[in-house]
Amino acid sequence: MQTASLGGSAEAIWQAVVPALPGFTVEIVPEIDSTNTELMRRARLGPLDPVLLVAEQQTAGRGRLGRGWYSQAGQSLTFSLGLTLAPFNWSGLSLAVGVSLAEQLHADVRLKWPNDLWLQGRKLGGILVETAGQADTANAPRSVVIGVGINVARPAETATQAAQATLPGVPPAGMAEVDMGVTAAELLARVVPALVTDVQLFAQNGFAAFAQRFAQRDALRERAVTLSDGRTGTACGVADDGALRVLVDGQVQRVDSNEVSVRPC
Ligand code: BTN
Repeated sequence: MQTASLGGSAEAIWQAVVPALPGFTVEIVPEIDSTNTELMRRARLGPLDPVLLVAEQQTAGRGRLGRGWYSQAGQSLTFSLGLTLAPFNWSGLSLAVGVSLAEQLHADVRLKWPNDLWLQGRKLGGILVETAGQADTANAPRSVVIGVGINVARPAETATQAAQATLPGVPPAGMAEVDMGVTAAELLARVVPALVTDVQLFAQNGFAAFAQRFAQRDALRERAVTLSDGRTGTACGVADDGALRVLVDGQVQRVDSNEVSVRPC
């Protein structure tokens, strides 16, 4: 992946997005610590103007739960969308983002609650949503940074990449497995306009507008799962606010903590 080829998609993305998102800009950089870290730095200085920051290479990419996100230049797509939103309820935003991405990527892409994109049972990508500052009221505007990492090529099985695989011993997946020859630039142009539309839909209507779409891609549905707090049960979909529903000892329990991770058994 050349920076120039990513740059070649910038104009088309900007043209597609700016009518719905006035002030939108696109920045493409060859290297940065982390696109999320950079936009969060800016968000701490004041409300974010809408921006797409794309990096060919991240030197300190971040994943959920304090993990790293490892990617190689030319073999992955790493970007963050920053903007200011005022939804009535923020719950489920990262799930809505996953729905939007999966629908644009491939019919076989599934969603593993809350933030993973899966392809054939292996991790294809991840989403890291961060907000800046504390809202005074429920629907006060806040800056949000939506970070997305997608493997384009199937990653080599290095120790660091194994750490972000779906399950121990299950290697990550890459989009090229189902879309031979696809480039990061093509994927970027495919996912970003729809992502902006869906984030705006979320701001208007919340996760409820995505619940059906999530259900169609839900990788955990009816699967036995283990939670990191020790509970085990059977996943039975997500609630209208994006919480995972798990049948534990005959009772449906909600799992909505960002600090609880879920593994299929
Ligand atoms: C996860 O699966 O844990 C989330 C991974 C999110 C990775 C993306 S890559 C672009 C953006 N910048 C980061 O540092 N992280 C996100």
